[in-house]
Amino acid sequence: MNVSPFPFHGPLEPEELSGRDGMVQTLIERVTAHRPTVLVAPRRYGKTSVLGRIASELADTTTVIRVDLYELRSWADLAVRIDDALAAVGGPGRFALDRVAASLQFDLGLVKVNFSRPDRPEPDITVDRLLDIIVAHGQRTPTVLIFDEFSSIIRLNGAAGLLRTKLQHHFSTIGLLFAGSEPSTMHMLFAETDQPFYAQADLVELPGLDFDTIADLVQDGFDPPAPCDLARHLDSFAHGHPQRTMQLADAAWRAQRDDVDPADLWPEALERVRRATDTAHELRFTGLSPSEQAVMRLAANRRPLHGRDAELLALGSTSATAARRALLDGGHITTTESKRVEMIDPLFADWIRRRFPI
Ligand SMILES: Nc1ncnc2c1ncn2[C@@H]1O[C@H](COP(=O)(O)OP(=O)(O)OP(=O)(O)O)[C@@H](O)[C@H]1O
Ligand SMILES: [Mg+2]
Repeated sequence: MNVSPFPFHGPLEPEELSGRDGMVQTLIERVTAHRPTVLVAPRRYGKTSVLGRIASELADTTTVIRVDLYELRSWADLAVRIDDALAAVGGPGRFALDRVAASLQFDLGLVKVNFSRPDRPEPDITVDRLLDIIVAHGQRTPTVLIFDEFSSIIRLNGAAGLLRTKLQHHFSTIGLLFAGSEPSTMHMLFAETDQPFYAQADLVELPGLDFDTIADLVQDGFDPPAPCDLARHLDSFAHGHPQRTMQLADAAWRAQRDDVDPADLWPEALERVRRATDTAHELRFTGLSPSEQAVMRLAANRRPLHGRDAELLALGSTSATAARRALLDGGHITTTESKRVEMIDPLFADWIRRRFPI
C-alpha cells in the first residue's frame, strides 16, 4: 500500500474515524431527540471528522445541513456559507428543500453570484430568508442543522442574536449541533447570561484518543506489525492529541518502509516530525508576547505560573494572569482539574522544552 493509513491533514472520511463510536451515537441521539448540543474540543481534535460521520450516518433519514463558519468575515459571507450548505444537501431531502425554497421565491446555490450583481440583495436579509427556508423545511422533514467553528459567529454583530431569534421556536423540530474549538468563546456564547444562546444547549467535550484506540490504529495500519511499544510511545508523547498521534504514526509508518531498524522506529519517527515542524513552532513562539512566551515555557514543563520558575522568567502575577487568559482563549493551553496549566499541542510543548530547557 502506497497511501499512508495515517492521514493527518484535514478532516477524516466518515469510514476512517476510529474510537469515536460512542461519541457519535451520543451526539446522534441528542440531535435526533432535538436537544441542542455544543461539541467543544481543542484544535485538531477531530470535531469536523465527527460531524462528517454524524452527517453520513443520518443521511438516509434526515436532511443534514452543515454550515462551516471558519474565519467568518461578513454578513455576506455568512449568507454564502448557509447557502452553500443548503445547496450541498443531497439525498431525499434535496427535492423537498428545493420546493420549500421555490415556495419562498429563493434559488438555492446562487447567493454568491447574486452578491456580485449591481442590484445585490441585502446580506442580512438574505441570511434571514435562508434561515426561514431551513425552519420551513424542518417543519416538514427531519432536519439537523450543524454549525462548525461556531465561535466565529461573534465576529458579526447581531448574528448570534438573529440565529437565536429565528431558531428559538423550532428547537423542538430541528436538531441543532454547534462545534467549536475556542473553549472560552464557546462557553461565553452558551453560558453567559447576556448571550442570545445562554443555557440553550448542553456542552459535550470531545476528548483525545484513548490508548485502546491508538493501539488499534497501530495494529490495523502496520504490515508488517510495528514494534509492540510504538502505541505506548505515541500515547505517552502525544497524550491522545488526535492529529499529532496520526502525524507521528505516519512518520513511523514511512520509516518502516524505509527499512529503519524496528528498534529505532520511534526515535526516527519523532526526529522526522521534529525536523518537519521545528520552523513552524519557532514562528508560532515568536508570534507570542514575552509574558505569553514565559507562560508557555512554564506550561510546557508543567511548572506553576508563580514561584521560583516564574521569577526566573521575570513573570509577574498580573502579566501571568493576562497571558494565561490570552493563551486559554487562543487554544494554546488548557487547565487541568488541579488547576495546573498544560499545553494542548504536545509537539509544540516538546519544541519549547528542547529550545528552552528548565
Ligand atoms: N478519531 C480519530 N482517529 C484518528 N485520528 C483522528 C481522529 N479524529 C481526528 N484525527 C486526526 O486529526 C486530524 C484533524 O481532524 P479534524 O479536521 O476532524 O479536527 P478538527 O478538530 O475539526 O480540527 P480543526 O480545529 O483544524 O478544525 C485528522 O486529519 C486526523 O489526523
Ligand atoms: Mg474542524
